[in-house]
Amino acid sequence: MVTGACLADIGHDVIILDIDRAKIDKLQKGIVPIFEPSLDRLINKNMDKLSFTTHLDEVVREADIHFICVWTPTMEDGSADISAVRSVARELGKNFNKFKVKAPIIVTKSTVPVGTGKAIRQIVRKEYKNDFAVCSNPEFLREGQAIADMMHPDRIVIGSSDEESAKKVASLYKDLRAPIIITDIPTAEMIKYAANAFLATKISFINEVANVCDVVGADVEAVADAIGMDNRIGKSFLKPGMGYGGSCFPKDVRALKQFSNTNGYDFKLLKSVIEVNEQQRELVIEKLIRATGPLKGKNIFVLGLAFKAHTDDVRESGAIDLVQRLQKQGALVRVHDPLALLNAKKVLDDKVKLVGQPHEGANGAHAIIIATEWPEFKDLDWEIIKKQMTEPIIIDGRNLLDPSKMRELGFLYEGIGRR
Ligand code: UGA
Repeated sequence: MVTGACLADIGHDVIILDIDRAKIDKLQKGIVPIFEPSLDRLINKNMDKLSFTTHLDEVVREADIHFICVWTPTMEDGSADISAVRSVARELGKNFNKFKVKAPIIVTKSTVPVGTGKAIRQIVRKEYKNDFAVCSNPEFLREGQAIADMMHPDRIVIGSSDEESAKKVASLYKDLRAPIIITDIPTAEMIKYAANAFLATKISFINEVANVCDVVGADVEAVADAIGMDNRIGKSFLKPGMGYGGSCFPKDVRALKQFSNTNGYDFKLLKSVIEVNEQQRELVIEKLIRATGPLKGKNIFVLGLAFKAHTDDVRESGAIDLVQRLQKQGALVRVHDPLALLNAKKVLDDKVKLVGQPHEGANGAHAIIIATEWPEFKDLDWEIIKKQMTEPIIIDGRNLLDPSKMRELGFLYEGIGRR
């Protein structure tokens, strides 16, 4: 939707197709079925250049370039399930054939393992004997900032086996004035995984540094600031906490490790990246137990459920994982999130109490855990919250609050790698 809306905004005619009728019905009325800041405004602004449908035959007759943007979820062994990509390719091939379309270009936006471009070519070729091209054009959009990331990209990557179609795809983005890298398809597919896996590695690295800071009495925030000032390292993605979550990093790190393995290479580093990520949630629980004792029967209030702030998405959220681990230890868990309560309700056990107001959750709590870095949590009336709690314990899994301020208020405060 973001890709479609932004392409329309820079002047292209875009048809958005989905097999989910309900989503398309909403979009036709200008209602956006997901939460992404400003997306509804952008879609409504460009309704004259956007259309929405569930009929592939209509799309195939109208469009020159076909973007595949379907999901590629994780399978049990960690590899990416590309069955949705394959099925779109098959349907495209059949319809190209039916309508005798001239030289269509198929572009993968979905994150797909290296080799998928080749597989798409073979699938379409079975159905359609004339000329067509396959390109890979991975996206680097962050949830919550997706429009800004699409409109002001650091780079645009296009993988293709022929220069002409790569140039056609590149021309779509010419007004964005971003560096464009044209390469072959396997390289473009690999760039996407390497980017996500590198950022995830940075997070696991700083989490391990934080864990060492905890045991040697150093302060990870100062360490991250100082190393980040080195241009070769950079400041971003050095925030320690409960580990990375969301629908991309966990899935893509596992998939890269898995397809490296299937191709005979053991990606040792990524094994540790995953292990460290999972360990972070357990460390939060260990800190909690050190502060409050065994958790059986204790009221624990978890502030934040989304996998990061400014989204309602709880997929692979560290906060959800944490709640489930707390329940296993016998804790009575209450949770609050400014946006993600509805989505969390679908995945959490009925015994977890969802509260609409932070103060409701704090009442009688033995401890509070900050699990998502929502800025508004900083501005809560912590003095009142302390009075409401049974024990004044805060475990800050996101290093969001000011430790000295919290301690001055009389809290037993523990962050991740912070003094
Ligand atoms: C990520 C990438 O940042 C995008 O470039 C990419 O396009 C996208 O995946 C994708 O593959 O579609 P996103 O999943 O929206 O975007 O989230 P991020 O902002 O990257 O955060 C991922 C996770 O890492 C979150 O749980 C966040 O809290 C955590 N994180 C991030 C940290 O723990 N520390 C940090 O310093 C930064």
